[in-house]
Amino acid sequence: SAVERFNEAVDKFDGDVLEAARVEFLGAKSGKLKSAQKGLGKVGKDDKPAAGKRFNEVKQRIEELFESAVAKLSQSSGGGPASEAFDVSLPGALLPVGHVHPITQTIEELKDIMGRLGFAAVEGPEIEDDWHNFEALNIPMEHPARDPLDNFYLHAGAKAAGGDMLLRSQTSTVQIRVMEETQPPIRIVSLGRVYRPDEIDATHYAMFHQIEGLMIDTDVTMADLKSVLHLFAKTYLGQDVEIRFRPSFFPFTEPSVEVDMRWNDTWLEFGGAGMVDPNVLRAVGYDPEVVTGFAFGLGVERLCMRRHGVNDIRHLYNNNVRFLSQF
Ligand code: PHE
Repeated sequence: SAVERFNEAVDKFDGDVLEAARVEFLGAKSGKLKSAQKGLGKVGKDDKPAAGKRFNEVKQRIEELFESAVAKLSQSSGGGPASEAFDVSLPGALLPVGHVHPITQTIEELKDIMGRLGFAAVEGPEIEDDWHNFEALNIPMEHPARDPLDNFYLHAGAKAAGGDMLLRSQTSTVQIRVMEETQPPIRIVSLGRVYRPDEIDATHYAMFHQIEGLMIDTDVTMADLKSVLHLFAKTYLGQDVEIRFRPSFFPFTEPSVEVDMRWNDTWLEFGGAGMVDPNVLRAVGYDPEVVTGFAFGLGVERLCMRRHGVNDIRHLYNNNVRFLSQF
């Protein structure tokens, strides 16, 4: 019957079945109602009013059934015609989603590389005190590195018991924090933001990231420093990368070097390194006669930019989706 056929269409959630049922019963040319209507002509005169009335009732009933079947199918398909009933097996419409920022991707990768060399990743605070940013790093009171023009000091109300507070200007602060809490041997890296009031241009930004490495043990030498950095550079940039040390000075390392890497025929400076100064080892209660160590601090943006051929650090922080979506 018509009831069964319409119900079947609704159950199957199938617009085609519904359409076939419509043609079968309501079809204008050869539908069952149409032939019933033709039959009306043959009914005897006396029975005609009753038969006509019955026919109209049945027709109305079938039309109602059809309408309600259409309504049921289209309700669940967002109001479209029954023949476009919702197919649950179709893939959904994808919403635009973001992804991990290139610097965060770089940080994860660098952590992973250093992790394989046995260096555990640790974190330190971005708001630091004088002791961890300067004093314990052998940067005395009158040292130019403390210049207010080179640092983001917090206002006087933020002074801690230990002196001035500032946004850390280097991740070397984390070396101190780790050594204060741990006994050697130590092998850590710390990746995070540092802040300097630099003039912003293609290679400078007032905030950037550093990867700091620290290894303390008995008999750690410059040779260990160079091989760790070389392995690190080769893994991140490629087997053909060369590494070069240039003599330099940092208050917290002795001797100190600038670390250059050569890749695609250009030498580029990536940061500083050296053997941890005995004064620093003493500041955290280590005996420099017993343990030695190396430390390095490299610019994460530089590494990321070198690897991906980005020529302006500002691209990384403009939040231009067309730029960021390439990574
Ligand atoms: N902290 C130094 C800088 O910010 C880099 C450095 C780290 C140098 C560790 C030596 C040892 O430039």
